[in-house]
Formats: sequence, structure tokens, C-alpha cells
Amino acid sequence: MSPAERIEVLRRDIRSHDHRYFVLDDPSISDYEYDMLVNELQDLESAHPDLITPDSPTQRVGGSPSATFPVVRHPVPMLSIGNTYNDEEIRDFDRRIRDLLGPEREYAYAAELKIDGVAVSLRYENGALALGATRGDGEQGDDITANLRTIRSIPLRIAEEESLLNNIEVRGEVYLPHDGFQALNDSRAEREEPLFANPRNATAGSLKLRDPRVVAERPLRVFLYTLRFEDEDGALAARPELDSHFQRLRWLAGQGFPTNREARRFAAIDEVIGFCHDWEERRSTLSYDIDGMVIKVDSTSLHGELGATMKSPRWAIASKFAAQRARTRLLDIRLQVGRTGVVTPVAELEPVFLAGSTISRATLHNEEEIHRKDLRVGDTVWIEKGGDVIPKVVSVDMAEREEGSTPFEMPTACPVCETALVRVGEEVAWRCGNAACPAQTQARVTHFTGRNAMDIEGFGPAVTEQILGADLIGDVGDIYCLTLEQLGTLERMGEKSAGNLLEGIEASKNRPLDRLLFSLGIPHVGERAARQIAEHFRSIDGIKAASEEALVAVPEIGPKIADSIVSFFRNDRNLDIVRKLKEAGLRMALETPEGGTDARTSAEGGVASGAGSRAFADKIVVITGTLPNYSREEMAGRIEAAGGRVTSSVSKKTDYLVAGENAGSKLKKAQSLGVEILNEDETEALISGERSP
Ligand code: IVH
Repeated sequence: MSPAERIEVLRRDIRSHDHRYFVLDDPSISDYEYDMLVNELQDLESAHPDLITPDSPTQRVGGSPSATFPVVRHPVPMLSIGNTYNDEEIRDFDRRIRDLLGPEREYAYAAELKIDGVAVSLRYENGALALGATRGDGEQGDDITANLRTIRSIPLRIAEEESLLNNIEVRGEVYLPHDGFQALNDSRAEREEPLFANPRNATAGSLKLRDPRVVAERPLRVFLYTLRFEDEDGALAARPELDSHFQRLRWLAGQGFPTNREARRFAAIDEVIGFCHDWEERRSTLSYDIDGMVIKVDSTSLHGELGATMKSPRWAIASKFAAQRARTRLLDIRLQVGRTGVVTPVAELEPVFLAGSTISRATLHNEEEIHRKDLRVGDTVWIEKGGDVIPKVVSVDMAEREEGSTPFEMPTACPVCETALVRVGEEVAWRCGNAACPAQTQARVTHFTGRNAMDIEGFGPAVTEQILGADLIGDVGDIYCLTLEQLGTLERMGEKSAGNLLEGIEASKNRPLDRLLFSLGIPHVGERAARQIAEHFRSIDGIKAASEEALVAVPEIGPKIADSIVSFFRNDRNLDIVRKLKEAGLRMALETPEGGTDARTSAEGGVASGAGSRAFADKIVVITGTLPNYSREEMAGRIEAAGGRVTSSVSKKTDYLVAGENAGSKLKKAQSLGVEILNEDETEALISGERSP
């Protein structure tokens, strides 16, 4: 057998074992034997690199991390489906179908589990997986092919005969089974990383990771349920012999796609309803989350006839399950003071087990909410888990209310510093107006030092409390003035841990601008907004000087965030903190490769650092995609050093688009506006003067 032949045999065998293991859950060889096959294939491929093909099982995890995901347009929009919450609404759906089709027509239903995951689309061209995308807004999604390829149950190639007939698109739901979710969160807890609220969030987060190698470690699974055949022009190709959703699921399974085995076909709507109730009872027996059932008219030619509204097809409906509930006692209502002084009432509950975890606390949002539900300490209450980790108190079981209970009365003073609580304008929230309130300071320090913020190793809640208790710092600006001597005075703080803590503090000085901005704890400025703003203004001074108009011009930044930033930088206390941080030597601007960090005082100013090229003087430049040698930040620095101004979105005013690999919508927009497009080499040639504009 020639190496090429042996390679083909190995690939076929490995594909079939993958299918047995990941799709059928029925392996026929040991892990060791399987590894031997993969090793042999890898060895042969290393010896004959010309024989490597992208659909080889060895090529699931490939490529390097990408900076962004290119945007792709779905040839057919990915719609959502209407929801029903009770039997009557399901019968209404059936009546609508009958009215639309006329009384004479016969039709059946397919009913299946509604997997609580993330919708994806997979395109196979000539039998090979060519594109994998997220749903996005339904019209266009992100090209996450590299990430989806790592899911071992997704075939990289499908049966030959079929592939010759048509290109196909299949759609389905990626999800994380309970055990995989638990293992992922356990390992995150170990590394003190923030936990995912639920398997769906973990799935969405995993699919958006930049590095496919990390995705490959997440035990993602998929169920596919939609199939579309294309003719040569990409239009819908008829397949009259497959005029049934149910049959299509079988066809998909036959081609090696993972499909859910619980789908059933029914002639009458009452049977469908019974099936839905059945699964609502049995949902906890599954090893993955479902949030309802999906009911579909079975005949796919009827799908075409019934059509769709703007948002959803008329031939399908979701029957949503009620959230899982539990009853317990409300032991107390405690007030929690946040970093901006907002006082949030929290329910202390008798611990109760609900949907996978024990619950002893729930947020009550605000005073009005408590009055609306008339929650009283001592009440028996119903709690529910929505999509969040944080459970909700939904109602009081009035039958259980004890005599003599009294309505909740909102305290008038801060529970920590006793300053009178105030309400600002129309807000429902009460605030502690004392910016020096120890609870606020503690919350601000906790936020500032946290994992997603400045990430100061060793600065946990206990240490924070000690440091604040000993009055060693007044605000986050003082963290960088802490000394070994001071820390040495704290109880249980040995010289070694004090030294480690100082090292952690020192290391945090190097965090990038967006992290610093997020760490300041400006109300409404989350990680994403901080990134957008940092990238746009490029220095703290630039952000400080920015007007509300300049801020709302940044993508994704609305008036609420803009207003919050402007007021933050008008406050003397905050300015003082920023000054201290600057004096301590924190990074206050985005780096340029030459190290000329502070030459540019603001994006508006756009002052070039040092002498050198002025090739981009007064030019407006946008950078997109992955460049071969520079990060986009570095390239922005080079262009700005040559007098250019780097902005984040393409418009008529843009002079150049510097585009790297995987450039998406910005490239298209630039092309349509006739903006000049440069690659990295051409940009460099302009800067060095080898090429003239
Ligand atoms: S069919 C146009 N079937 O639910 C109809 N969707 O709320 C396409 N989902 O976007 C959807 N399990 O992400 C369908 N068995 C199933 C599903 C399912 C989960 C998700 C899917 C869809 C959302 C609609």
C-alpha cells in the first residue's frame, strides 16, 4: 500500500471511530488503539506534508489566534421562533396552520427538544466543511470556522455521493453538557477566574475565543436539525424525496451528523402537547439543558407554503418551559452598599436546592420591588432561577404568612457609615452619598484589584479589609504607595506575603489602558466599553478631555456611558486618584512600538512622536484584520507616529484602510466607499518613504 493509500485508510477509520465515539456514544476500540491510529496518520503526514488535506482528522485544531472574526452574511436569514407558554397557545398555533392551509389539507408535526445552547450554521462545499458561523443578528454572523472545526462530532467531510449532488448548509445548536460545564467552572474556580453563569453562556463564550486551541479543550457538543440543499447557483434545491423534517433528521444522522434522538412525529396537536408535558417533567434526566420544545410542521414543502414573518417562520413554534422554582423562607433583608453607593436589598434565604445548586441569597433589586411583592421577613417565598446565576424571589406564598408580620421599611441611613440615604432624580435606587463610606471604598478596591480589572495577585477580600481597616489607603490611588513596613504591621501578614503582594502591585502597573479604565469603576463602563474607548482615545488624558459628543461618536458608546465618563472626570476626588496612578507610573496610554507612549496627548491632538516620517500627516486611517508582523495597536502607533490619525470605523472621511488577514465588514465597506486599501508591506513602504502616497 502506498503512503497515500494508507493515509486514506487511516483517515476513514479515524472518522468512523470519531463518529462512533462522539456521535453514537458507542466506541468499538480502546482509547489506546485510537491514539495509535492517530499517531500513525500524524507520522505519515509529517513524512509527506504534500498529502495533508484540510479535512484530515489531524487538522481540526489549526491556524493561529485571530484578532477578529470576519463577518459573513447568511444566504438565508437565521430566524428565531415564536414562543408559547401554555397549551392554549400551542392550540392557537395549530389553528393558524389549519387556517393557512385550508381545512382539507393533511399535515403532521415533528416535535423535538429545544436545546439551550448557541445556534450555528455549517456549510459543506463539495462534501467538505467550508464555513461555520454564528447566528449573529440573523442576517449576518461571525465566521467561527476554526473554532467549530475543533468540535469532534462535527464531520469535516461528508459522504462522497451526496457531496457530488449539492452543497449543503446545516444548522443546529452547540451546547455544553452538564459534566463538561461543571469541569470547566471547577477549573476556572481553581484559577480564580470568573465563573460562567450557565452552560449556554459558557458555550457562547467558548465559541468566541480567539484561540482554537483553547476551544478544542472545551467539551462542546452539537445537535443539528436544519438542512438546506443548494443548487449550483446557491439557490434552494428541491429534494422532493426528502419532504419531511423528520426524515431529514434521519438523513443527517446517516451522513454522520449528530442529531437529537428524542424527536418524534405526531398526527394530532394533542399528542404533541402530551409529549411536551412529558419532557417538562423529565428534563432533569437529560445530561444537557433544554429550555422547552420545538414544534414543527413536518412537511418541508409546507414550510415554503406557510412562509415566515419578519422574525420567525409560521411553521414552527417553541413551547417554553416554566423556570424551575423552589419554596423557602425569607430569613432577613440585608442592605448591600456597592462601589457607586447604590444600596441593594438582598434576601437572606433558608438554603434550598434548585436546578443544580444550593441557594441562600437572592437580590431584591430595590425598595419598590420589595413593596410591589410585599415581601416580609419571615415569609415563605417562591424563588426562581432565570438565565442568571443569581436567583430571583418571585412571590410570597400568602397562605403561609405568619400573623403579626410587618411590611418592609427601607432604612433611612447607610448600614455601614450611617450617612442618610438619598435618591437622585428619578432613580428608584437609594444611595449612600458619602463617597468615603468604608463599604463603597471596599467595593471600589475589590473591583479595582479584581481579576478582570488590574488583577493584583494576593489582593483578596480579606487583605483588602485589613488594609482598609488599618487605614493604610484611602482610595485605589494609594495602593501603589503601600510599603513593606506598612504591610508588616498587619496581622497574619508575614514578610514573604507582604513582599509577594508588593510584587503583585508592581506587576499591575503594566496593565493596558482599557483595563485601567475599566478598573476605575466608572458607572456603566464595562470591559467592552472600556476597550472601545481606550482604543479610540488612546490615553487617559484623551478620555479625560473628551466631550460627550466625542464619546458617543465611539462605536457602541451611548449617551448614558458618555455622561457617566464626563461626570467622573469632573469630580476632584476622581481626578486626584488618576493623578496618583499617573505618578505611580501606571500605563496611561496605548503603547507604540518605539515606546513613545505619552507623546500623543489625545486622539484629537494626534501629535506625532519625534522626528521621522510624516507620510500619514493629517490622514485618517482604519486598521482591520490580522497583520503579519504587527498587532493592530502597534501599527496604530506607527501610523500615528507618522502623523496619521487612527479611528475605529470606516467612513467617507477615511483615507486609508490597512487590512490584514480575515478582514471582514470594514474591508467591504472601504471597498464600497472607494477607500484606498493597504496591506502591511505597503503601509511600511509609505512610512519608510519607499513608496509615495
Ligand atoms: S428550529 C427557524 N429546533 O432556539 C427555526 N431551534 O428560539 C429555526 N433551538 O434560534 C430553529 N433547539 O437557536 C430549532 N430543535 C430545535 C432547537 C432550536 C434549540 C434554538 C435555536 C433557535 C432558537 C429559537
